[in-house]
Amino acid sequence: MSFSRRGFLTTGLAVTAAARTGLGKAMAEPHHNLPDWHVGYRNAPVNGFDPAPMQLVFGKAPSGLSGSLYRNGPAQLHHGKTPASHWFDGDGLVHRIAIDDGKAVHSGRFVQTHKRKEELKAGAFLAPGFGTVGDPSFAVMSPDDVNAANTSVMMVNGELLALWEAGSAFSMDAETLETKGPKVWRADLASMPFLAHPKVEPDGRIWNLGMAGEHMAIYKIAATGTVEDVAIANTGKEYYIHDWAMTERQLVILVQPWINTSPVPPFIDHFVWQPEDGLKILIIDKDDLSSRRWVQAPPRAFYHTGSAWQEADGTLRIDAALYREPILGAGGGTAEITGDWRQEDGFSADFTQIVIPPEGDAYLIETGLDGEFPQVNPDFQGLPRKLTALASGTVPGRPGASALSVHNWERGETDTFEFGYDRMVEEFLFVPKPGGLREEDSWLIGPVLNLKAKAREVCVFDAAHVSDGPICIWRADYTWPLGFHGTWA
Ligand SMILES: [Fe+2]
Repeated sequence: MSFSRRGFLTTGLAVTAAARTGLGKAMAEPHHNLPDWHVGYRNAPVNGFDPAPMQLVFGKAPSGLSGSLYRNGPAQLHHGKTPASHWFDGDGLVHRIAIDDGKAVHSGRFVQTHKRKEELKAGAFLAPGFGTVGDPSFAVMSPDDVNAANTSVMMVNGELLALWEAGSAFSMDAETLETKGPKVWRADLASMPFLAHPKVEPDGRIWNLGMAGEHMAIYKIAATGTVEDVAIANTGKEYYIHDWAMTERQLVILVQPWINTSPVPPFIDHFVWQPEDGLKILIIDKDDLSSRRWVQAPPRAFYHTGSAWQEADGTLRIDAALYREPILGAGGGTAEITGDWRQEDGFSADFTQIVIPPEGDAYLIETGLDGEFPQVNPDFQGLPRKLTALASGTVPGRPGASALSVHNWERGETDTFEFGYDRMVEEFLFVPKPGGLREEDSWLIGPVLNLKAKAREVCVFDAAHVSDGPICIWRADYTWPLGFHGTWA
């Protein structure tokens, strides 16, 4: 398929290089009596975190659990007294929790992007972004000039990548977390957007999308990191596409009716919710990227999918954290960043299965489970499966999840461990046990923020017995900001 990077990037550059008026929301100063949970929204130290051992404070580390949990999230949420105007616009900091022989060591480094270097020099937010107007003096020649590299991480053939969604991945040293620079998959693909939710087949082949306006790039990358194919699709409008799904044979792209109508930042102000369009689903044949089918589903907004699979009769199933309408919109998490969040600002997802019959419209199976950051066993990515883990639950008085749940689609049951008010729960990842063959032969590993101890913890559960509570907990006697996504390597 013919491919023009220049043509593809035109829309994205129009977005980032658009004239900026300097108009925007007045920056509120954080108030003085900050709630205890606000510790999750403060800056990390400017130089990150040097390697420091974590203490085993509960249980016994499972033998056979050896590797590194990498995580990414915005960790510069204030410059002086000025808060970031959207959670998505803080500079990314990549954490590593290296686990070996029952011991855990934490380290973390900011991704040294152009945006970070310039803003640190100025002591101010300068780059235009998802929720940020930006300073007119900040020149934008490429999407990577505003790259926050703050959303997720992946490991490709030993190379650690910090992921954003509107620009390049950033290559980092997997041991020291030093930034090497923007990842160039192939010379003609430099600066091309690469979403923060790539999908990896059990044999290591990587699929991902990159969005620029109404153009969608489809990447097919070998486990070695070599690009096998890049195709372009057109979605007709500039939909917000953050995550997607795939089966063994198809890419399954949920196109929510949340549409950007202007290239002028802050972009969030120009997204329009058009529920009358419904949720459209684009299904693309992996073996023939020109073979595409559209399916209609009821209107829903979303950020995250679990994964998709196909049954013998051709039925496709996808699970996702769906919302009745877009959330983190105009507010953008600012109320959390300033400490002004109130209970009524809360929102809830409905963990849902979208069923696409071989013919006709899709329909929804709702669980009523309020959960986000759905995760599946990586050995079953795109394959028939039954288990999905989620950060779930809410407690009165603070934002964020309070529980870890594993939903079993086969049984229609959810197994939950409730941590309570004192621990804010982030994304948990499946780590298959050595020699395990079934989905449930895995651990779940993830970080929590312990508000009472003012400390960070990493917890390990048995995926088959989540309600029994953690197998072990390691603790760092300091905190770091709440983040988005991680990977286990
Ligand atoms: Fe995400």
